[in-house]
Amino acid sequence: MAATETDDLLRFITCGSVDDGKSTLLGRLLHDAGMLPEDHLATLACDSARQHPDAPGKLDFALLTDGLAAEREQGITIDVAYRYFHTAHRSFIVADCPGHEQYTRNMATGASTASLAVVLVDARKGLLAQTRRHSYICALMGIGQVILAVNKMDLVGFDPTVFEGIRAAYQALADQLGIARVVAIPVVATDGDHIATRSPRMPWHIGPTLLQALEEAPLPQPVDGDFRLPIQLVVRPHQDYRGYAGIVEAGCVQVGDEVLVQPGKTTARVATLHVAGEPADAARRGQAVMLTLQPDVQAGRGQVLASAGAPCPEASQFACHLLWMGEEPMLPGRAYDLLQGTGRVRARITAIKHKVDVHTQAPLAARRLELNEVGACNLDLDHDIAFEPFTSNPALGGFVLVDLQSRATVACGRLDFALRRSANIHWQHMDVDKAIRSHAKAQKPLCVWFTGLSGSGKSTIANLLEQRLTALGHHTYLLDGDNVRHGLNNDLGFTAEARVENIRRLAEVAHLMVDAGLVVLVCAISPFAAEREFARERFEPGEFVEVYIDTPLAECELRDPKGLYRKARKGLLANFTGIDSPYEPPADADVHLMTLDASPQLQADRLAAWLAGRITP
Ligand code: ADX
Repeated sequence: MAATETDDLLRFITCGSVDDGKSTLLGRLLHDAGMLPEDHLATLACDSARQHPDAPGKLDFALLTDGLAAEREQGITIDVAYRYFHTAHRSFIVADCPGHEQYTRNMATGASTASLAVVLVDARKGLLAQTRRHSYICALMGIGQVILAVNKMDLVGFDPTVFEGIRAAYQALADQLGIARVVAIPVVATDGDHIATRSPRMPWHIGPTLLQALEEAPLPQPVDGDFRLPIQLVVRPHQDYRGYAGIVEAGCVQVGDEVLVQPGKTTARVATLHVAGEPADAARRGQAVMLTLQPDVQAGRGQVLASAGAPCPEASQFACHLLWMGEEPMLPGRAYDLLQGTGRVRARITAIKHKVDVHTQAPLAARRLELNEVGACNLDLDHDIAFEPFTSNPALGGFVLVDLQSRATVACGRLDFALRRSANIHWQHMDVDKAIRSHAKAQKPLCVWFTGLSGSGKSTIANLLEQRLTALGHHTYLLDGDNVRHGLNNDLGFTAEARVENIRRLAEVAHLMVDAGLVVLVCAISPFAAEREFARERFEPGEFVEVYIDTPLAECELRDPKGLYRKARKGLLANFTGIDSPYEPPADADVHLMTLDASPQLQADRLAAWLAGRITP
């Protein structure tokens, strides 16, 4: 009978470069361990005979597990392939990840659930850049043990010194990365040497075969410690029942235990407990539970129920390591969704302290992270979360970042520690608030955000609008990108990173002004949808109006009020919006003004009329 998940299950990952023979190794392993069903074997024999008419009877194991290659040919998105198998001693789940550099992100996905990596190296080539990259990611994702399979030993004459050289080089790398356990095995995947049976061709190898090594690998120690239950689901079939469902990620819990709802200060006692649908007195790590609390306090998905005597730390600012997996580079300042535990929170990378050269582990200066780069960064979240450092609890210390526009996962990472300042800065209560300030001004505060190309007419229309609003007795301010760049933003240029920061600051200043009760008009190209969205989210519903000043590029160039388009066309001005820097037009602006249709005066009149109802209390 197969071992069950909880007693003896090893999750591992295979990593190797493209031609190292990863598929062959895995295929051979399954075959030699007697885990290939008859029908697969028959298909494999047929496919092998067709592919290799010159070698009758020989099985080409690459054909067996090369489903990924087939997918690639068909243009199907390639992800991680999980395979399940078991021997008499142990069950296994292997994440087979493509070796191409562009698929590093899939490797990280596979690594995040694995506790061991089989790293495959071609004996003729030794350690490659990709070997180092994969090993780095394994270490980053908390994998503490590696089986180093040095393959194609037949092509180096079964020479033990070649094997020993590679083993020693890899051990040095593992020491650097903090990978605690390395078992090196010389193999010939095509012929099965040291895969499931010992190889008479390499009698000098005294260590285990690959299969033995997998069967003997120590299983990860369960994270014990104090009770942690990230809430996955609130079950509320009727008014009188509120159950919290999730998986116990650490410790154990009993009926009657006092728990803290985190982040927050609410405590309650566990009133009832179900494990896998059955009533129970206690539950431990790894079990799926549903519990009710007494008193019936309110908590939601993403919050954590933790032992009241030993709660999780809470913070909103962190030092972290992350692997960037987005096609677009990571820009500090841009907002992303951070998924941690079962929760989701808006997050920004406030600083890249350095990126890591994955070949040498040396820290390198960086302003942005490109695809597959690893960086040590600071994170700033919209609100506190309950967390634990990745090293003590991966479930509450690991995270991924999701792009707000495309919803693609663009990074995975680990929380290293909370930054102290987050615990030391508190929100100061003020008795005079926005409502009192705006009441005194007899208006509803508002942010009117103008976006459009340089020369599109943003400032002209905003200027006319402000005149009309003040004539009506409103209290206004015009925050103009050009003007703010003379002072507050005079340290910023026009790279993508600088524009992200420019808009972040404009949004924060506008937010303060709205808090002061003003009607704020912001004029900035604001070329990126993500930052305009960030700006919108700083405000309460109804407080933010996006106005798209839509003027064709050709017309802006014709007007060229500051002569900047001419300069840019001559190559004298780099990163100019519309020329060699992108503008992402809003898809659903609140107001869309086509400036070719009407005079600025008429546009300002229309806008003032449209806004009147929103400003007057
Ligand atoms: S934004 O892109 O970060 O929103 P912002 O509106 O503050 O830009 O500033 C744009 C103004 O700076 C333009 O109207 C133009 O006068 C000037 N400028 C100078 N260099 C550039 C450039 N490379 N790209 C765009 N605008 C530039």
